[in-house]
Amino acid sequence: MIKLSNVLKFSCIIVSTLVLSCALFLGCVHNNNDQKFNLIPYPSEIHATGGTYILPTNTLTFENGSVDAHFLTLIKSSFTTIEIKEGTKANISCEIVDSDTIKKEAYQLSINNNGVEIKASTHAGLFYGIQTLRQLIQVGTQGSSKIPMVEIVDYPRFKWRGMHLDVSRHFFSVDEIKQFLDYMAMNKLNTFHWHLVDDQGWRLEIKKYPKLTEIGAWRDNVGFSANQDKGLNRINSTPYGGYYTQEHVRDIVAYASDRNITIVPEIELPGHSAAALVAYPEYYCNNAGALKIWDQAGVSAGVYCAGKEQVFTFLEDVLDETMALFPSEFIHIGGDETPKDTWLACPDCRKRMKEEGAHDEHELQSYFVKRIEKYLNTNNRRLIGWDEILDGGLAPNAAVMSWRGVSGGIKAAEAGHDVVMSPMFPFYFNHTQNHLSSSPGHSGISTLRDVYTFPIIPEDVSEDNRKHIIGIQANMWSEYMPEFRHIEYNLFPRIYAIAEQAWSPSTRSWDDFYSRVQHRLDVVKEAGINVGEVSYHVDIKVKPNYSDKSADIEFISERSDAVFYTLDGSEPKVTSKLYTKTFVVSENAHIKAIQFKADETKTNVSEKEINFHKAFGKPYKLKYDHAPQYDGGGNYGLTNGFLGVMIGVEAKPIEVIIDLGELMKISKINARFKNQPMSWVFSPEKVSYAISEDGSEFKLVKEIIPEQKQSNVNEIVEFLGEFELSNARYVKVVAKNVGVCPDWHPAAGGKAWLFSDEIIVE
Ligand code: ACM
Ligand code: ZN
Repeated sequence: MIKLSNVLKFSCIIVSTLVLSCALFLGCVHNNNDQKFNLIPYPSEIHATGGTYILPTNTLTFENGSVDAHFLTLIKSSFTTIEIKEGTKANISCEIVDSDTIKKEAYQLSINNNGVEIKASTHAGLFYGIQTLRQLIQVGTQGSSKIPMVEIVDYPRFKWRGMHLDVSRHFFSVDEIKQFLDYMAMNKLNTFHWHLVDDQGWRLEIKKYPKLTEIGAWRDNVGFSANQDKGLNRINSTPYGGYYTQEHVRDIVAYASDRNITIVPEIELPGHSAAALVAYPEYYCNNAGALKIWDQAGVSAGVYCAGKEQVFTFLEDVLDETMALFPSEFIHIGGDETPKDTWLACPDCRKRMKEEGAHDEHELQSYFVKRIEKYLNTNNRRLIGWDEILDGGLAPNAAVMSWRGVSGGIKAAEAGHDVVMSPMFPFYFNHTQNHLSSSPGHSGISTLRDVYTFPIIPEDVSEDNRKHIIGIQANMWSEYMPEFRHIEYNLFPRIYAIAEQAWSPSTRSWDDFYSRVQHRLDVVKEAGINVGEVSYHVDIKVKPNYSDKSADIEFISERSDAVFYTLDGSEPKVTSKLYTKTFVVSENAHIKAIQFKADETKTNVSEKEINFHKAFGKPYKLKYDHAPQYDGGGNYGLTNGFLGVMIGVEAKPIEVIIDLGELMKISKINARFKNQPMSWVFSPEKVSYAISEDGSEFKLVKEIIPEQKQSNVNEIVEFLGEFELSNARYVKVVAKNVGVCPDWHPAAGGKAWLFSDEIIVE
């Protein structure tokens, strides 16, 4: 594609202009390797050699015929402030060199008196050199721009630098997808995980199964009541949907490929499949009831029958057309959140379980995924799936995308499988990045700083297996982002954090990054991008010290020099104590902290309560494990003294025995639960407290049944049980889960969650 060699470039006239302009501008910058440049992602090695190269007429000129026309067009589209052309007086050259000298995707960029030289062994490397150059150019005021003289040697930290976009929950046009790809390319992200299929709409034309898009791409209305409530949605009374024709897809794949982006399509199976099954109900389990194309968040009951042979024929046909469109090494098959209960009630699935020796529904899913993997492998493709594909036994060659925290990723890497780390906190960009109730997105918080500082390689992965962590990815689920401007809002500025985590060396400074982000934001705002407001929230970190009943308190915020706090629950002001460093509390505290913005306006107050009660730091045993992603902040989630961080258990009760370590006199137990129905979280329908001296014989001391069983209000519900002062070493709490979402709920019948932050014993 690039047929150039070293081309030069320069006449005496330009040299004299350079000297003159250099004096005019600022005097040349002298050699200073501590000098920082406003580059994101920051290069691996960069040296300022001193001086500034001037682009006299804001023009970069390639020697005539030295660059391929297609590449020249591509480069032109990367620049808005300067002109790129061909001519006789070249001042930029791009050279492809041997891959032994410069690795794939890497590049060397040199700005010197001769102008700009970029060397790489691939088209991708040259493209990335151009992206760095774009950020280095400082637009001048008098018809000439300048570029600091630097020598850069740059290469990526990870091979998979991913961004995901869900186009099922809301549909985005071809132009919007290209815009998204541009944002990725500018930041050296190279893998676009395109979530094309889900319960809420099938978005990929499959010629052999036209009903997938004729029927499966359209739902009755735009839906998502939470968006209606916020005023974010469009008209809600007409059919909503859309899909990409195969021609669109080919166009998008080529557009991405020019920008060194591989598109990994996701064809969700076996769950999240209502849209496909409404179009082709014959692939659903018999007698499983009717489905509709979902128009709310959550997971439908739609699952492909694992027993019917024709399901596999259908999926293989779909994958054939998918593979023909997407040349990617990997095909993503989903595999998350499968509603496996449907299988257990299906005679065909039961028969399959028996034939295949699958002991439970997880092993049946494993059979399903392994069979699909075999098909992909036969076609020289690799399978990647969400970390649930570990349950019941991982397919032999599968790669795992770890979203429920990093534990699935650790397990897979230790078993020698490739892993992409995409833990929902902080890498789900559908979580808001600030604490503004008006922001589009899911209700969790993943701030810019959270994304930037997240440790990618867990210490639990042994040295030898770290190579299996091939990359990272941020995900953009679109339930609560009906318009592309909402996507932009949640993408910027966090895209800078994921990009720098993915590309740059692991040793980096938050403060330095934050200041570079401010500079880049000025540029993108100027370009009209709808940039999200960063968080001005203070994250209050509490590290309990169980042995001496105290806790270390640390405040984390975007601006670390402007946080004020109180410990008695009163409102913090500029006259309150200024935070400087971590401190210790050893008495119950109601901490409130606030950050002031650069313009001195104040932001929202953060608060956290810590309670050094009698069960503080005491070990406990849960009868039913909490979900791995809702661990309450670690091993002592229910007794760590701080309120607000929850453990979560799905469908089962929270049944726990706490060991106080010695006999104590107690008269009060207060277990706290979350009620947040639209997230399928309900406070318990009954809570009982029992105590014991020996851990085997328990005496019931209180049973609490709330009058109103299920409310629709988001709140913390306390179940305070007071009783006669008694001797106890063990405390048993049983909180009954409501089991399923009630009739009035949009997901009536779906599995309900139970969340608790603390069991306070006094
Ligand atoms: C997922 O968020 N269900 C992968
Ligand atoms: Zn079935």
